[in-house]
Amino acid sequence: MQSSQAAEAGKRKSLHGHWSSRMAFVLAVTGSAVGLGNIWKFPYVVGQNGGGAFVLVYLACVAIIGMPVMMSEILMGRRGRRNPIATMALLGDEEGRSRNWKWVGGMGVLGGILILSFYSVIGGWTLSYVINSASGLFSDATATEITDIRNGFIGDWKTIGFFHTVFMALTIVVVARGVERGLEQAVRFMVPALLFMMVILLGYSISSGYFAEGLAFMFAPDFSKLTWDTVLAAMGQAFFTLSIGMGAVMAYGAYLPEETSITSASATVALADTSIAILAGLVIFPLVFANGLDPADGPGLVFITLPLAFGQMSGGTFFATVFFVLLSFAAWTSAISLMEPAVAWVVERFNRTRAQAAVMIGLLIWVVGFGTVLSFNELSEFRFWRGTIFDNLDHLTINIMLPLGGVLIAVFAGWVMCRNSTADELGGTGAIYKLWRVLARYVAPIGILFVFLKAVGLLPDLS
Ligand code: PFF
Repeated sequence: MQSSQAAEAGKRKSLHGHWSSRMAFVLAVTGSAVGLGNIWKFPYVVGQNGGGAFVLVYLACVAIIGMPVMMSEILMGRRGRRNPIATMALLGDEEGRSRNWKWVGGMGVLGGILILSFYSVIGGWTLSYVINSASGLFSDATATEITDIRNGFIGDWKTIGFFHTVFMALTIVVVARGVERGLEQAVRFMVPALLFMMVILLGYSISSGYFAEGLAFMFAPDFSKLTWDTVLAAMGQAFFTLSIGMGAVMAYGAYLPEETSITSASATVALADTSIAILAGLVIFPLVFANGLDPADGPGLVFITLPLAFGQMSGGTFFATVFFVLLSFAAWTSAISLMEPAVAWVVERFNRTRAQAAVMIGLLIWVVGFGTVLSFNELSEFRFWRGTIFDNLDHLTINIMLPLGGVLIAVFAGWVMCRNSTADELGGTGAIYKLWRVLARYVAPIGILFVFLKAVGLLPDLS
């Protein structure tokens, strides 16, 4: 029974085609993981949480929670070879358990739609900053001028809505072209380009003369700054940045060739994602210090502090443009992975072509995105629960849906799937497999549950 099941799973093919190589898969998942979370969010969260100690906790979270969940998602995706909803129904069935696990896939598909609805608005914002920086708008600008540019942009729903539209259109085009001609081609060009731009910017930042300060800020751990909240922020960040908990990586795993090692691919992605987040910090902080600005500036770090820093420096116009092109690429390759689970589901479930599915889902996300667009202007006073519509979507998806999805995915791979099935996908029951299983069964679910309960306020303050 077991071996025929394994043979059956091994023969399965994805309807959407497959990555042409291991490299293509690693680039695609890296493209998904490296995004606004690394370059926009990570540096400011590090800044707000006191630097080095936060970085250490974050690294630990990536290793002991992020890695096992990512491996679980990929192995489930490859075994089912369908969209996350159908994959979980099929595997639930095959393991002699319930098909109702499909609802976890369903939550992922919905999560992708909701996250992309606001991610696209921020992605559009970065596109507009490519134009702003290339046209020299930031050159020698004062803090007030740059704040005015920012406020002028988000204050006018037509402008911010326009760039959201452009960003969504770019995402739809890639997803509509399919796995090999769309997704794979996009990441083959954009991920290496992104790395290249990062290295150029790093050189620039080293030449600013303040690299040592940036380095010390990122790596000198000040444990007095460590609180439970910091630990939780680090764990949430690890989650979002690795794109786990919502089926994006599961969808990508469905197109993974049979012979590729899931463990080594996951380790490569986690390493690449973490390196880029740290490099982003090492690019940004020296520039911030070189200009006497505040590293704990929060979400405005990239959109206000950084243009200000570039504007004061020689070659600033060029390097600021490179920086925002990089950020746009990073956002774009993540956006396609946020859309893929829903598109794959529509194609399989309703027999649509990819182009039709991409346009349908894309339009839906585009419309929902106006909730976020209007949160910055016309509806900025419309507040409930956590704040504006944008604040609510952000909180609901990142703090609730992703951790919940992550726990359920780890539980599924660790407890629902039998040892034979997971060992079959992970290539045997050696030491690495055993380690994965302990992490997936115990460490990750308990750790994530802790974040989750904390996020919804069900745990008392321990600090
Ligand atoms: N990992 C992306 C980032 O760091 O910006 C965000 C993301 C993409 C989250 C895809 C979830 C996802 F499925």
